[in-house]
Amino acid sequence: MEIAACRAEDIEVLDRFMPSRSLDGNHAARFARQEAGDSTYLIPWLDGRPVGHAEVRWTGCEASEVRTAQPGCPEINGLCVWPESLRSQGIGTALVSAAERLARERGIGSMGLGVGDGNPRAAALYARLGYLPTVAYVDRWAHLDDHGVRHEQADTCVFLVKAL
Ligand SMILES: CC(C)(COP(=O)(O)OP(=O)(O)OC[C@H]1O[C@@H](n2cnc3c(N)ncnc32)[C@H](O)[C@@H]1OP(=O)(O)O)[C@@H](O)C(=O)NCCC(=O)NCCS
Repeated sequence: MEIAACRAEDIEVLDRFMPSRSLDGNHAARFARQEAGDSTYLIPWLDGRPVGHAEVRWTGCEASEVRTAQPGCPEINGLCVWPESLRSQGIGTALVSAAERLARERGIGSMGLGVGDGNPRAAALYARLGYLPTVAYVDRWAHLDDHGVRHEQADTCVFLVKAL
């Protein structure tokens, strides 16, 4: 398995293997933020196909609660391993490690990520990796359904931080 920053030509492959209807979190939007210098969109590749993603947002979490409590802390956003059959094999841990390495190279002393209240397995993984709960917040995002209708989501989350 290798992890590399997303390239323009990867977008079509990502859309084919891991389609996303999220307005802010689709692959093209994440790549555009990388192009703007606001993030690094990490893709793990196994046997020539993408098997997940993680966007390191250097601009931090968008929620105002988090920005106030953790100013300047970057965020690992959209962490996912796909397909499900490849989970619990260390790919998620490798993505988090790669994000932390990039932050250290930039001289950044902390990394953060949000976990939903209903995701105890992910929370257990992050605790094992050294992430500690800091502030509760509401993660607001939107997606389009099959008919192109926009739906708003609001998930209660906790922002976890690790000193690097
Ligand atoms: C969370 C996630 C990225 C972890 O990736 P991974 O490659 O399975 O992680 P690792 O193999 O490095 O570590 C596995 C550990 O993650 C935890 N975990 C969290 N969610 C899990 C899931 N849906 N399936 C399996 N393990 C999960 C478990 O504690 C597991 O420990 P175990 O292997 O001892 O059972 C991945 O499970 C996933 O994509 N889940 C769905 C999307 C999601 O919840 N993203 C996180 C948003 S905060």
